[in-house]
Amino acid sequence: MNDRSCLAVILAAGLGTRMKSALPKVMHAIGGRPMLGHVMATAQSAGCDRLAVVIGPDTKSVEDLVIKAAPGAACFTQVDRNGTAHAVLAARPALEENVDDVIVLYGDTPLITADSIAKVRQAVADGADLAVLGFEAADPTGYGRLIVDGGRLVEIVEENDASDSQRKVTFCNSGIIAFRGSLLPGLLDEIGNENAKGEYYLTDAVAIAAKRGLKVVAERGPQEDVLGVNNRVQLSQCEAIFQNRMRREAMLAGVTLVAPETVFFSFDTKLENDVVVEPNVVFGPNVTVATGSIIHAFSHLEGANVAANGKIGPYARLRPGASIGEGARIGNFVEVKKATVEAGAKVNHLSYIGDARVGAKANVGAGTITCNYDGYNKFHTDIGAGAFIGSNSALVAPVRIGDRALVAAGSVVVSDVPDDALVVARGQQVNKEGRAAKLRAIKEKAKGKT
Ligand code: UD1
Ligand code: MG
Repeated sequence: MNDRSCLAVILAAGLGTRMKSALPKVMHAIGGRPMLGHVMATAQSAGCDRLAVVIGPDTKSVEDLVIKAAPGAACFTQVDRNGTAHAVLAARPALEENVDDVIVLYGDTPLITADSIAKVRQAVADGADLAVLGFEAADPTGYGRLIVDGGRLVEIVEENDASDSQRKVTFCNSGIIAFRGSLLPGLLDEIGNENAKGEYYLTDAVAIAAKRGLKVVAERGPQEDVLGVNNRVQLSQCEAIFQNRMRREAMLAGVTLVAPETVFFSFDTKLENDVVVEPNVVFGPNVTVATGSIIHAFSHLEGANVAANGKIGPYARLRPGASIGEGARIGNFVEVKKATVEAGAKVNHLSYIGDARVGAKANVGAGTITCNYDGYNKFHTDIGAGAFIGSNSALVAPVRIGDRALVAAGSVVVSDVPDDALVVARGQQVNKEGRAAKLRAIKEKAKGKT
């Protein structure tokens, strides 16, 4: 099968009106990646060596995604959204390039797996002219029904065009259809729009092919792989399945998830073995965590990497550009953004570290803030190796704290501190003996208490 050339035509131009959104439907995300991005990646991993994506007019965000996800993919615009067959026809130049197999995928079916794609491709490799991926639906409402007669697939009937008895059929169309490449343009030319919606349905290719005596087959895949998203309830159902897949994969790869149902992944989250993740942790896009690290409860990580044996949280927030060195410690209510915290450094409580470097083994006391923004520009703070920053200090960037320097608690540091220096940058303490007692006496007298 893998020696056959394969074009995946991904339909992504539908209006998706039931999403009730300003965003094109296929741009809605599952696990932090647009649905279309999932389908494109899966098509590539299933060995489709060419991709053609059919997008709607004025959907620059979709075009940008296609170019970024697969620079070799061809984009075609379907101006009037006249149905799935009409959409495939928009990619006609790609269809005419003599590919062995053409597989049509829907951009709103994000959980499709390479295994399911392989099933219909294999059927064509084994001699079928057209192979539909079907599934047994728990609730078939809204799906096209696969009408099988004497073991042969004879037609697909859309919900709106189905008779009462056809509506009872639970064997449904996933939308994924593989065609012998040379036959598809001819089949598309025969499809009309005499149906309840007045659209050109790709699904009609089945009845046309069956009538021509071509070999038409239906394969069966798990419903989970082919859930179509037409509204946000279905979007959330796909998200839940996606999360369960990611959790399972992580655990089987040696990650401990104490309460897996409370940990949320992005499509690209990478956790090495012997990472422990406590309950209620969210991984936004682009996070890697190396072996031996623990992510304590209620932490949120995004665009961050944690080297081996790091300790993060509870209640920590790692934002894009946070790079946490080996054995470093980021404690509770600490936010780190665009900053490197080097090996063995500790930022244990209530701090903001932004646009900064914290040198190896430095200790940043509770409540320390890097003041990185003056309302117009961002500036860098550099904390040297082995430095000790006393609690509740404000480091006003740009500023450098030298290696092994000591910053006294409560300091507001506005200029560089040399290596090994002690800096005290706060109002001097004045003790006035007995003054508290005197003041109290005056106040109480005024209130008439004595
Ligand atoms: C479609 C199938 C149905 C199947 C279901 C599975 C048809 C006629 N019906 O119905 O049999 O059970 O998917 O989820 O194929 N699109 C375009 N241009 C268009 C219309 C649609 O690009 O003019 C794209 C959409 O972006 C979407 C896909 O095609 O990615 C499917 O369209 P949608 O309107 O969601 O079809 P369904 O009603 O779900
Ligand atoms: Mg759909």
